[in-house]
Amino acid sequence: PTPADLRLAQPDRGSEPVVVRADGSAADAPAGPIGQPLPRVEGRLKVTGQARYAHEVRDLAAPMQVTAPSTGAATAQGVAPVPSAAAQGGSRAHAHGVIVGATAARGRITQLDTRVAETLPGVLLVLTHRNMPRQGRPDDGAAPQMTSDRIDQYDQPVALVVADSLEAASAAARRIEVTIEPDLSGARYDIEAAREAAVTPKAMIRPPESIVGNLDRAMREAPFTLDATWTTPHQSHAAMEPHAAVADWDGDALTVHCANQMVQRAPKILAATFGLPEAKVHCISSFIGGGFGGKLEVRAETVLATAAALALKRPVRVMQTRQQVFHNTSHRSATVQRIRLAADESGVLSGLGHEVLASNRPGAHFYEMAADQTRSLYAAAHRRTTHRLAPLDLPESASMRAPGEAVGLLAIEGAMDELAEMLGLDPIELRIRNEPEVDPESGAPFSTRRLVDCMLHGARRFGWADRPLTPANRREGRLWIGTGMAAAIRGNLLQPASARVRLDEAGATVETSMTDIGTGSYTVLAQIAAETLGLPVERITVRLGDSRLPAGPGSGGSWGANSSGMAVRLACEKLRDKLAGTGERTGSASADFKPGDELKTYSQYSYGAHFAEVSVDDATGEVRVRRMLGVFEAGRLLNARTARSQALGGMIFGIGSALMEELAVDAKRGFFVNHDLANYHVPAHADVPALEVEFLESFDDKANALGGKGLGELGISGAGAAIANAVWHACGVRVRDYPITPDKLM
Ligand code: MOS
Repeated sequence: PTPADLRLAQPDRGSEPVVVRADGSAADAPAGPIGQPLPRVEGRLKVTGQARYAHEVRDLAAPMQVTAPSTGAATAQGVAPVPSAAAQGGSRAHAHGVIVGATAARGRITQLDTRVAETLPGVLLVLTHRNMPRQGRPDDGAAPQMTSDRIDQYDQPVALVVADSLEAASAAARRIEVTIEPDLSGARYDIEAAREAAVTPKAMIRPPESIVGNLDRAMREAPFTLDATWTTPHQSHAAMEPHAAVADWDGDALTVHCANQMVQRAPKILAATFGLPEAKVHCISSFIGGGFGGKLEVRAETVLATAAALALKRPVRVMQTRQQVFHNTSHRSATVQRIRLAADESGVLSGLGHEVLASNRPGAHFYEMAADQTRSLYAAAHRRTTHRLAPLDLPESASMRAPGEAVGLLAIEGAMDELAEMLGLDPIELRIRNEPEVDPESGAPFSTRRLVDCMLHGARRFGWADRPLTPANRREGRLWIGTGMAAAIRGNLLQPASARVRLDEAGATVETSMTDIGTGSYTVLAQIAAETLGLPVERITVRLGDSRLPAGPGSGGSWGANSSGMAVRLACEKLRDKLAGTGERTGSASADFKPGDELKTYSQYSYGAHFAEVSVDDATGEVRVRRMLGVFEAGRLLNARTARSQALGGMIFGIGSALMEELAVDAKRGFFVNHDLANYHVPAHADVPALEVEFLESFDDKANALGGKGLGELGISGAGAAIANAVWHACGVRVRDYPITPDKLM
């Protein structure tokens, strides 16, 4: 690639976010701080290395606090530091733990010899199932590790070696002698092969099945039908920061710095695991280097660091290696998705079916809700969506960015493109003909739904008008060039949230246990507080990521910004009202936000339209994305710059899911072969062309008083399907088996 190819930029607009009206004209700039494209208030801390991620924490007993840097320096100190090692005569210096993992996916430990390791210099402790403290059970909310000699998954921790230094711990870890007698009989690693054992899972957010009318009959009677199956592979979150924790037990209370998206829940889990009073457990996640769902739960490193800290009564830090993260956290399940479409000559759907097979560990409840969005996406009188869950003896499947939509749209939006081809219709026109007036299954009115506006505006901006309906019509040398589009939809969720605000002469401090996983929480909460209190953003300090602060909603499900934002909004309003007319300039207030009934009485989704142009090399089958445009409607933006960054990140994720991402399962031995970033391919800069993002100006008054809807997971939703559709348009080959690697095009 040339340097120009490597540039990640919007060529004609710089890097400024763009908010537009439906007619394409630029929206007015926001009147107050909310919505302004402010750079991240913690950005300087991050690029100067002052932001301490869990594994880097040395002396902080409280979360870092963040103030917009234009006041001078961003604040980086924690409050009440842990007494340093020197002050304690060295006894409380941090120790380092290294996890030893199982080399079989299932079986029993028949030999576990720690004696040599224990005698090596610097080694303080070796924990195994034989000397772990007593732990609670998962049924009681605990997350126990190393409970017995049984191995249930590949790389499952079998020992934690703790030493004075990381080097000593690593060296000793290699001297642990472990023999595992594998028992892989009857183990299942292939989702299709496990189909017969699949069950209908317990409802999560919505019921796993929906049936309206009679889809089979609609399929029999319609002049045009499509019945095809799409498959998506297991995928890994692959966040930049590996899971890490530093635990410190002072004999009475436990402080744990961890990388956790839902830090307010972490003390409950650790308390249940180790039989501690919850009030004695304090968890802090000041900065998190990406999560994508992989850090929603308390994982092995945090539990094992805690166990070692309890035993040693000194701080212990444990980081999973990059390789361990792939097995010892969670991943997105593979899916097999059958789509059925029944349509008349004009493309109006009479039937719509989306049936999903996903996998998880035997007995686990989480399922990839890949058909959920289809219930609200297009009108059709006869409908059927189902989810089935196949038991696989792989590590746990759980939420990964836009659980459900991220892979569900890879199937339904490919199917819509195939139907458009069958009917000789423009794909946007087909979607417009099936645009529902109310939610097609629940009958609820939409809060705001601007899907058609997103498609039409995107079509104008992308240059869609002259696109031929047939494939393989544009060639540049060896390259076939094509374009494709897909709809984006992602459910809007809200969670209860609490916040506190204190005002003094210097400004206001906002506190909630909300986290910032790189998405901009510090910044948008500062903007909301500034606007509500009538202060400049520079006078707002934000403290997040501490379980002792008023309970935040955590970062998950695209609910974080609006839920925590509403709590901050309400607390600031309360304080403002309290001080009004008193002449007072100091005070504090707390508030709790609870989602209202509008979540039930309105169909609430964020929407968008993705457009992609790709080239396919005629000789090698290599696909390159040449440009992409995403047009989104997610209600009011809290910060147009961080919103755009979220959308960009999601679209880049879409490139990965369309073309690269795949955990390769060793079907004999039951592990992910490509468990590192050399072999688990995610888009690198050279894979990412100029991406453009635009937002339609919007305010969803049914979503919440701030007017915003979920945004974090919208950008990935549908992005990969637009690329797949563009690949077909380039070269005429439909690939329904993701990722679209060159071999599938040859
Ligand atoms: Mo999200 S997959 O709930 O971090």
